[in-house]
This record gives sequence, structure tokens and C-alpha cells, in this order.
Amino acid sequence: MNKNESQDYRSLVIVGAQWGDEGKGKITDYFAQSADMVVRFAGGNNAGHIIEQNGKKLKVTIVPSGIMNSRVINVIGNGTVINLPSLISEMEILEKEGFITDTIKISNRAHLVFPYHIVIDEFQEKERKNKKIGTTKRGIGPAYSDKVDRQGIRICDIAKKDFKEKLKYNVEYKNKFIKAMFDGKPLNFEDIYNETIELYKKIEDKITDTAIIIEDAIKSNKTVLFEGAQGVLLDIDHGTYPFVTSSNTSANNAPTGAGISANLIKHVIGVAKAYCTRVGAGGFPTELLSEIGDQIREKGHEYGSNTGRPRRVGWLDAVALKYAIKVGGITNIFITLLDVLSGLEKIKICTSYTLNNRQINSLPACDEDYQECIPNFLEMPGWNEDITQVKSFDELPENAKNYLKMIEKICEIDIIGFSIGPDRKQTILLDQIFNHD
Ligand code: IMP
Repeated sequence: MNKNESQDYRSLVIVGAQWGDEGKGKITDYFAQSADMVVRFAGGNNAGHIIEQNGKKLKVTIVPSGIMNSRVINVIGNGTVINLPSLISEMEILEKEGFITDTIKISNRAHLVFPYHIVIDEFQEKERKNKKIGTTKRGIGPAYSDKVDRQGIRICDIAKKDFKEKLKYNVEYKNKFIKAMFDGKPLNFEDIYNETIELYKKIEDKITDTAIIIEDAIKSNKTVLFEGAQGVLLDIDHGTYPFVTSSNTSANNAPTGAGISANLIKHVIGVAKAYCTRVGAGGFPTELLSEIGDQIREKGHEYGSNTGRPRRVGWLDAVALKYAIKVGGITNIFITLLDVLSGLEKIKICTSYTLNNRQINSLPACDEDYQECIPNFLEMPGWNEDITQVKSFDELPENAKNYLKMIEKICEIDIIGFSIGPDRKQTILLDQIFNHD
């Protein structure tokens, strides 16, 4: 395959460019209308993706956001961690709502989240006292720890002869750990084993070497979307460590988490809110602990779709966004929830920080420093008009246009589109990613 041919691939990665909850599900669902495949490449049921169509609202956590489109193959890639009870219950809800789950394919290399991971996640958070990460308590960190520690159990292991022995070893090992470290109650191996075997039967026919089908799809010029979970600032390597999730959330992990060559990836959209939110602990220089923050939280329904926790709210942090664009391999950004800012007299964008009396333009590595960063803002006039029905950039009030233009200018990147409400129709695309010939 020569270089010119590779430039024609119709592959697109969609990642969050902030701390998660940027509305990736909606944007993925939007692009999925013309896609053939949607691939989840990292994370587990810690993610909560809301997709909405014709007033019908759906929440998915591990099932890819292409599920509303019956012609889309939805792949759960090798880089994810799967909680079987949660996946099955999600599939059952989808089926009840009339969606077809036959389109789901699951990587045989994906790791499993077991009840002991969840128990350990809960105990570890408790033990951290005032240093809590604020995890979703879905066992994600402990499951990825086992993967890296080579003690993880993958989907492909379930059908093998030594599965029972492997799981028994793990349950006993974790029980010793839970008892010694937290004085916790042991988990019952037989219950975990029987449940896993029962649930496995329901998804057995969906398990395959998904890397092969993804590569085939891209090479046969199908449109393939890679759906990230969380956001770049929660990336285990590049995020605001230790207040991060346990996987690589950036687009650079899409090839690894899907099992394909990096050369097969063509475009990367970073989804960013018109402001910032964060759940869980960690530095957040632009956080608004004020009435304006409360107003944005209520208008933007900023409560965790998965855990119901109120999200912390702040002005757009362009320093963090620029950083995410750089380390996250982002080629375009998509701005969501622009409508939420309507009615504010002034809107601020953070363009640099002051740390120890010095101006800095990038994210410090240590959260301790990040917590001390004072944001330097550029202030812009807001707009009062309701923009939820606009159909183009030109229909936006002048100040909203200027706000978007300013984000482009500061972040040195093109905005590919923006969204002004939860419905698919409230999505304005400014440029075509794929030419439809
Ligand atoms: P974990 O992924 O459950 O281990 O949580 C680690 C950090 O990532 C915590 O701050 C969580 O609040 C955050 N987090 C995990 N998943 C999401 C998500 O889907 N949206 C926003 N934050 C998330």
C-alpha cells in the first residue's frame, strides 16, 4: 500500500479534548449516520455516553455510540475493559428500546472487570481519605492494573480449559488482599464463576478478533469511527495525574486499543465544550465557584450521566485545550454546548496561567503546581439570543461567532463544527471530513 492510497482512508477518531463528558456520544452518533463501523478503543463502563434522537434519549457506557444506526457495526476493542453484567444489561435495555444489538462485535483480547476489581476500587478510594481521586468505582483502575500486572483475565480465556482455575486463583488472591489491606469480606468464587459462564453464553457469538475486521473495513474504504472515552486531560500518561483514569484516552491509543496500524488513522476530532467541566478531584484553574458556575451547571445539565454527581464547572481553559490538542493528536475541534452560554453578559477564556509569579502557557506536570495555577483571562462580550435553532454559523449572533473565532485563533486549530442542543439536528458541521463521491 503506497502512501497516497493510505491518504484516502475514511477513518476518524473522536476523543474528548477536556476532562470527559464533552458530548462525544452525540458527535459520534452524528458522524455514525454515514459510518459503517464505530469502534470503542479504551475505558469501560466508567464512561457514560448520552445519545439522543427524535426526543429518544439513550445512555450507553461500553456499547459504542453507533448503536442507534442499524447499519453500523459496533466494535468493543481490545483496549477496553468489560464488565459483563453491565454490558449484558445495557444490551437488554437497548433491545427493549427496539435497537438491534446483533451489530455488536467484541474483541477476544479485551480484559474483564470482575466484582473484586469493584470492591478494591471502593476500598482504595476510601483509604485515600482526603486524597480521593473521585473514581466512578466501577473497578476500572484495578482491572487495568491486573492487565499491566499480567494477572488480568481476557474474554478469550473464558472458553479455555484452565479458566476456572485461573479465576479461582485470582479470586483467592484478591480475597487475601482485601482481607489484609482493608479487613474486607471475601468474595465467593463459585458465584463469580457461575455468573461469568452464564453471561458469556449471551455474547459468545459476538466475540472475534476485531482487529481483523477493523483493518478490513478501513482498507475496503468503509467509514470507520473510533470512539474515545473520557477526555485527553484524564489520560494516564498525559492527563492531570494522579487525577486521571487508568487508560490512554488520547487518539494516539486508538490504533493500539483497536489493534491496527497507526497509518490507518486519517482524521482526529477533539470534542470540547464551550466551557469546561470536571468530575472527580484534581486541579481546575478556571473553576467557577460562583452563581455563574451554578447557572451553567443547571442550564447544561452538568450532572454525571453515569454517577449523577454534580460536575465542577469553569470557563473555557484554552491552555489546557491547546495542550490536549498537542498531546492528543487532534486535527480539528468540535465545540459542544455553545447554547448553554447564551444569556451571559461576559464570557471568559483562560489564555495563560500564573504560577509562582511567572506566566506559563502549558500544563505543569504535577497536580500540586496545577492546583496553584492562577488563570489569566481574556474577556469577551456574551450574547442573549437563544441559539438552539440556528442552522448555520452565519445565523449565530455576532458575539457567538467571535467567541468561536477566538477559540480557533488561540488554539491554532480549525473548528469543524458546533452543537447547540442535545438533538442530532442541533449539530452544525462547518466542513466535510470525508468527501462523498
Ligand atoms: P475511573 O476511570 O473510574 O478510575 O475514575 C478516574 C477519574 O476519571 C475520576 O476523576 C472520574 O471522575 C473520571 N472519569 C472516569 N470516567 C469518566 C467519564 O466518562 N467522564 C468524566 N470523567 C470520568
